[in-house]
Amino acid sequence: MAKTLNIALAGLGTVGTGVIRLLTENADLITRRAGRPIKITAVTARDRSKDRGIDLSVYDWEDDMSALAARDDVDIVVELVGGSDGPALTLARGSFAGGKSFVTANKAMVAHHGLSLAKSAEEAGLSFKYEAAVAGGIPVIKGLREGAAANAIERVYGILNGTCNYILSTMEKTGRGFDDVLAEAQQLGYAEADPGFDIDGVDAAHKLSILSSLAFGAEIDFDAVEQTGIRKILAADIAQADTLGYRIRLIGIGEIDRKSGDARLFQRVHPYLVPLSNPLAHVSGSTNAVVAEGNFSGRLLFQGAGAGDGPTASAVVADIIDIARGEIGPAFSMPVASLDAMDKAESGHRMSKAYLRFEVSDQPGVLAEITAAMRDANVSIESLIQKGRNKDGAVLVAMVTHKGPEANITASLEALKGSKSLAGDPMVIHILGA
Ligand code: NAP
Ligand code: HSE
Repeated sequence: MAKTLNIALAGLGTVGTGVIRLLTENADLITRRAGRPIKITAVTARDRSKDRGIDLSVYDWEDDMSALAARDDVDIVVELVGGSDGPALTLARGSFAGGKSFVTANKAMVAHHGLSLAKSAEEAGLSFKYEAAVAGGIPVIKGLREGAAANAIERVYGILNGTCNYILSTMEKTGRGFDDVLAEAQQLGYAEADPGFDIDGVDAAHKLSILSSLAFGAEIDFDAVEQTGIRKILAADIAQADTLGYRIRLIGIGEIDRKSGDARLFQRVHPYLVPLSNPLAHVSGSTNAVVAEGNFSGRLLFQGAGAGDGPTASAVVADIIDIARGEIGPAFSMPVASLDAMDKAESGHRMSKAYLRFEVSDQPGVLAEITAAMRDANVSIESLIQKGRNKDGAVLVAMVTHKGPEANITASLEALKGSKSLAGDPMVIHILGA
């Protein structure tokens, strides 16, 4: 049997301890599949004294994380710390400089520095792998990079954040409050160290920018992702969506836009009303689902656990096994020099049907003011619902528009800005596939 593959592990939290458990419990199977034994030689985290429920005495401990990349008894460095910059990035760069392949679950770092890291890996003839960075346990990176490699892909979209999906689907099923369900998602190990990254759509945007690169052969452009999270979704929106035959899901969409002549890249993370006829409406809990539309493969649907220790560890160890088998290919769908730098596609000309929700003061003329703003911006209303007063005396007005340019909806809301009739910012939720 080939020689043992030695790994160093930085980060012993939810994912790091999951990786140790998986490598231990499935050791025989993994050795046979990898063609060689895989052994952890050294580990690090912030607090050496923390009880993590596993025996760490069998591994060397490095106080200085970057020392892992300099050890002679390490072939692969595995980073499960997090953060786009700081020690994780230093470790990644140090690993390639030190001749070690590098595996990470850190989507923030891949979204911001993935291209430069991939270039370093290519130049050094090393592997850079990040399957766990997108959609937890689902092999969607492999799916796009390898399985769908022959296809031109025009659209990739899906549910990319387990925490948000857990919050939305649990609120929908139980009627429980946002903060309560978020605390539970944190307890279950789904949320980022800063849960604002989850609920503000940043984490999903990190993942979408990576998927877009793989799907379209484009350079990662995280800054071009339009981002809206789920903080402003009310229980009343979820109930209203249900009445209308929809579920609310945070969806990331990447699409090639050819309307302006040359191909541009449209990327958006936003809450969407998903019709019950769409499989994404039935994705609950921390499950993720990604749809990619290939020109020869047709519609591919990848679905599975998107967060948590076991599923994420499964993806990390799959990368380690690939490296043990000698897999060295471009980190993205092609070498970095072959990726296109695509311009951002704007959203104004996109044809969209939307749910608009206003909280208004209960006074004569309020509805007339809103509908006049719609009329003036050429937004056609399909249906309108007014609900009774909430505890602050505000009334909820929800409407569904006919399909029209998104720029018109934006213009109508712009006209209402500062109106004394509105008790808060209006919420726009686009309707998926309409
Ligand atoms: P976590 O539970 O917070 O664990 C982070 C680990 O990193 C901890 O062991 C912590 O040490 C260590 N650490 C943090 N800062 C450090 C520093 N400056 N020096 C040394 N060690 C440091 O996070 P996690 O959920 O496992 O996530 C790890 C990575 O996986 C992140 O990039 C995350 O985005 C990604 N990811 C997570 C999931 C998930 O479901 N949780 C899924 C996919 C991807 P202490 O334990 O001593 O504090
Ligand atoms: N915080 C992330 C989520 C972890 O909730 O999806 C998995 O990437």
